[in-house]
Amino acid sequence: MTALLVLKGIDTFYGPVQVHFGLGMEVRQGQIVCLLGGNASGKSTTMKIILGLLRPRAGSIFFEAHDLAALSTPQIIRAGIGSVPEARRLFSAMTVRENLLMGAFARSDRAEIARDLERMLELFPRVRQRLTSRAGTLSGGEQQMVAMARALMGRPKLICMDEPTMGLSPLFVDRVLELIQAVNKEGVTIFMVEQNASLALAIAHYAYVLQAGRIILQGEAKDLARDPRIRAAYLGGETEPAA
Ligand SMILES: Nc1ncnc2c1ncn2[C@@H]1O[C@H](COP(=O)(O)OP(=O)(O)OP(=O)(O)O)[C@@H](O)[C@H]1O
Ligand SMILES: [Mg+2]
Repeated sequence: MTALLVLKGIDTFYGPVQVHFGLGMEVRQGQIVCLLGGNASGKSTTMKIILGLLRPRAGSIFFEAHDLAALSTPQIIRAGIGSVPEARRLFSAMTVRENLLMGAFARSDRAEIARDLERMLELFPRVRQRLTSRAGTLSGGEQQMVAMARALMGRPKLICMDEPTMGLSPLFVDRVLELIQAVNKEGVTIFMVEQNASLALAIAHYAYVLQAGRIILQGEAKDLARDPRIRAAYLGGETEPAA
């Protein structure tokens, strides 16, 4: 299987404070890859460096043949990376429909955009019901769905998601996880950051565990879900996830 995204030897800093120490990771084409880690371990910062919102001081990031260090954020998005950032970041004063169309900003194929919008509304029927509402009036789970649909409107090869289930009620958590799997089955590669290891490992193919800016463990998700080190280092004695 080919690697779509490859990070090597990444050192990232905020001013004098170092966040990543020689970070290395691969996201293989067609997979759901998860980055697990506790608070302040550097997960969201990993999203930022992939999207070019923050530049690492050392190391390389390649997406297919693109050296992302040489590209601006809009160029990175055009190359095929979509993002669902932390706390969703919808344009809250705009309607849901307008938000979805913003996701296609880099495209000019109007007929195809209209077709994709219809596809999104089939995939997310709940979003259709709220199409003319202001995005800021939606519930957290509905906003998460709009954010996912908006990212998909850019026809990305890879979607990066920062804690897609955070703050959602159990019902919405299940729905969002199902949708991530559905999107992946359509051929979109997923890189997701999660604090909730048991949820993430239930749908991921492969996972990395980040601790204080270093990858301390990686492997097939099904193996990691059973790995006692995951629970010691990370799950903190939670019960094992259901298969
Ligand atoms: N803009 C910033 N300026 C300075 N330090 C920052 C900035 N953003 C994050 N940090 C620091 O970098 C470290 C990593 O932050 P990051 O947001 O990547 O962690 P995280 O793993 O996403 O945590 P969480 O689970 O809380 O979302 C933290 O110590 C954080 O305080
Ligand atoms: Mg974070």
